Amino acid sequence: MAEAKLSTTLGGVCKITVHHDLPPDVLAMVMLIEDKQFRKDQFYSLEELEERSREAGFICFLYSLDGKPLAYDLGYNDEEKDIFFSDSSATVIERKGVGAILSVLEILYCFENGYKAINIMCEEIDQSGRRLKEYWGKFGYRVTKIDEKAHFVDMRLDLTSELVKSLGKKYIG
Ligand SMILES: CC(C)(COP(=O)(O)OP(=O)(O)OC[C@H]1O[C@@H](n2cnc3c(N)ncnc32)[C@H](O)[C@@H]1OP(=O)(O)O)[C@@H](O)C(=O)NCCC(=O)NCCS
Repeated sequence: MAEAKLSTTLGGVCKITVHHDLPPDVLAMVMLIEDKQFRKDQFYSLEELEERSREAGFICFLYSLDGKPLAYDLGYNDEEKDIFFSDSSATVIERKGVGAILSVLEILYCFENGYKAINIMCEEIDQSGRRLKEYWGKFGYRVTKIDEKAHFVDMRLDLTSELVKSLGKKYIG
């Protein structure tokens, strides 16, 4: 359903693949998206991505549009039991609903796989003016810690069947 929705919205063929490791072709696509969407100081190197792919519970959702890299979302088990840490996500086409589908598919995956909550860490507002705290707030994430000096916040989403159903209905259909 997510592929069909994005294919219609974006006017191409959208494919979503799910990976529990990072083979070279997937790694290359993730790095291309990172390169376009993140500042250099927030960019994960090849070694950092490979390190993350060895974490327990690692998962990467990779989105393509007409065979070209569109978006990715990756995370793994948090240090806290039964909690998922959503480490990084980005889309090269913004404000067309791709980010919401990235975030909601991750939420569905986590709920179905028994995680109780998802933790994230983000800048409140990034250098390009994206209001990231507000973006995550749309899905119900709440702030659990503020690092005022670095303008970073920790946020958490507690997973309930009501929330997951309503997000799925609203953003995927
Ligand atoms: C953050 C990001 C993933 C959002 O993706 P997107 O495809 O533009 O988001 P969507 O179009 O799906 O928008 C979903 C909702 O968030 C809102 N939103 C999107 N971008 C926003 C922004 N910059 N500031 C505030 N709200 C925003 C939309 O208005 C929409 O709200 P609605 O549900 O009320 O209609 C995307 O901007 C991105 O890849 N940024 C660069 C990488 C990054 O910052 N990743 C997050 C790291 S924590």
